[in-house]
Amino acid sequence: MKTLGIETSCDETAIAIYDSKKGIIGESIYSQIDIHAKYGGVVPELASRDHCVKIVDVLKDALGDLSIKKIDQIAYTSGPGLLGALLIGESFAQGLSTALDVPLIPINHLEGHLMSPMMEFPEIKMPFICLLVSGGHSMIVDVKDKGQYEIIGQSQDDAVGEAFDKVAKLLDLPYPGGPYIERLALEGKSDAFNFPRPMINSDDLNMSLSGLKTSVLYTVQKIPNMTEEIKSDIAASFQQAISDVLVAKIKKSIETTGRKEVIIAGGVAANKFLRSEFKKLEESLNVKVYYPGLKYCGDNAAMIAFVGSMMKPSIENDRSSNARARWPLDELKA
Ligand code: KG4
Ligand code: ZN
Repeated sequence: MKTLGIETSCDETAIAIYDSKKGIIGESIYSQIDIHAKYGGVVPELASRDHCVKIVDVLKDALGDLSIKKIDQIAYTSGPGLLGALLIGESFAQGLSTALDVPLIPINHLEGHLMSPMMEFPEIKMPFICLLVSGGHSMIVDVKDKGQYEIIGQSQDDAVGEAFDKVAKLLDLPYPGGPYIERLALEGKSDAFNFPRPMINSDDLNMSLSGLKTSVLYTVQKIPNMTEEIKSDIAASFQQAISDVLVAKIKKSIETTGRKEVIIAGGVAANKFLRSEFKKLEESLNVKVYYPGLKYCGDNAAMIAFVGSMMKPSIENDRSSNARARWPLDELKA
């Protein structure tokens, strides 16, 4: 069974093919980052237009020598994300499924992130805890079973990736700032600035990051002569503060739920410092922490094709539109 996955929810145009016996057998991803970087964030209309321009070539590249006639079903991201961008992927998926006369399966993008490490680590078994940290989402999900997701904690304001991007902007780093902060932090001292760890000791599993970002802003404003050394110290201290909050909340969620496996997914899961901090938790709590491979931390179509391959294609291609900007994980049907 070969599932073709299509991802266009934000600024990556991606297509991948998942074979239920062999795993991913073809994939292609085109990032629009250069288009949006000069605006300091994703411009929705430009994103939609560029998906239109690139999607056919991305399909050809993903297929390689494989004939499109070998595809058994089409899975595509139908939400959450930028509505215009989602509609491009949806209409492309509709067209393909009609031409090939194969089933069409709408997929929740967040479910793709949650499941992504299972592509590479088949030993992962549900239930597990997932920390999903990207540019638009920061949540802790209790993954009880396929389709049974309980959001047990989330950011009350900025997403973790968003906080990285905003702090990067304060330090004059390019967009998206996460990888630049990580690199700069390597040269800095993580205890140089004592930034706040909002809600770290709260009774719940929620987080708040806007106060941390504001504290960095005030710190930057008070420094008359910013140097590379100070910037590195700020980056390292900020990264330490955010890691402390995430590690504390995951520790609490393990204690609350008794789960033994944790998945860290989403763009921020690429951060090696964060991974090293979770390594310590793994050892102290005797749990196992999994990450997607680096190429599957950010948005990709492999995770969409993979989740599609697990679905029963019971949904008739009735030409209905399922694209939606908002689609919380706990509103999925099992
Ligand atoms: O999952 P993703 O590619 O897109 C969505 O937001 O859905 O995540 C992008 C976010 C950006 O905010 C980016 O700055 C952050 O992930 N990010 C990182 C790193 N790589 C990407 N944040 C911290 N450290 C990184 N190495
Ligand atoms: Zn994403």
